Amino acid sequence: MGEQKHVTLRMDGVSKVFAKVESDEVTHALNTVDLTMASGEFISLVGPSGCGKSTILRLIAGLILPTTGTVTVDGKPVTAPSPQRGMVFQKPTLFPWLTVEKNISFSLRMQHKLKGNEEKVERMLQVIGLEAFRKDYPGQLSGGMAQRVALARSIIDEPDILLPDEPLGALDAFTRMNMQDEILKIWRERWQLAIMVTHDVDEAIYMGTRVIVMEANPGRVIADVPIHIDYPRDRSSAAFLAYRVDILNQLHYAGHKS
Ligand SMILES: Nc1ncnc2c1ncn2[C@@H]1O[C@H](COP(=O)(O)OP(=O)(O)O)[C@@H](O)[C@H]1O
Ligand SMILES: [Mg+2]
Repeated sequence: MGEQKHVTLRMDGVSKVFAKVESDEVTHALNTVDLTMASGEFISLVGPSGCGKSTILRLIAGLILPTTGTVTVDGKPVTAPSPQRGMVFQKPTLFPWLTVEKNISFSLRMQHKLKGNEEKVERMLQVIGLEAFRKDYPGQLSGGMAQRVALARSIIDEPDILLPDEPLGALDAFTRMNMQDEILKIWRERWQLAIMVTHDVDEAIYMGTRVIVMEANPGRVIADVPIHIDYPRDRSSAAFLAYRVDILNQLHYAGHKS
């Protein structure tokens, strides 16, 4: 794989307000977020539904613009989407008329880069475990398989910043754990900046160099927890469990001691 560029991403005083459809009220999807993230980090964004996780990814992807504040990559404001920042959507968006193989190689073909990169497509098919399904169409795949194809399609572009939005949500527990390891392997080969949304605290700790904890109404960051455990991580280690208790406490889900 190619040499990775080092990038620094900053969100300074970023807020996002949406108008509500049925009334004059507004939704404070995000309230003054200040974050600095850089290549080599794996950021897990975790928090309840509606706390603004997808909004953060969409702002970084350049799909929406902040109401106040700035999002910059190496000092340059993000104003539009770029292949440098690859979003993996919650609901996989595949081309139904293309096979698995052609969905994965789509952007390479668009950039006339398929020639000489065929082995990359093979590698991706292996990584997602769908070599036997290369000639199948998205309509023939399960939700989890489609999600893996969508992930492969973004990774093959070698973006500087990878933005998966709950990429493993549709998978069964075992496939999910395997895919966590595959994503980590890809990230550790190239040390790009990964910012992944999840609502699973264990997944956030297992994968992240940093876990950013969020809360809703208004959407905001309530904690930024560096995870000091070497990879591969042991989900049942004392250190892992201590982070789990800490983060669940931040989210008020640890249960009450009476
Ligand atoms: N395009 C939009 N128009 C109006 N409201 C939106 C839009 N996108 C998100 N919201 C609202 O902003 C809040 C945060 O949404 P989102 O970032 O999708 O949360 P999460 O991904 O954490 O579940 C929610 O209340 C949601 O309803
Ligand atoms: Mg979301």
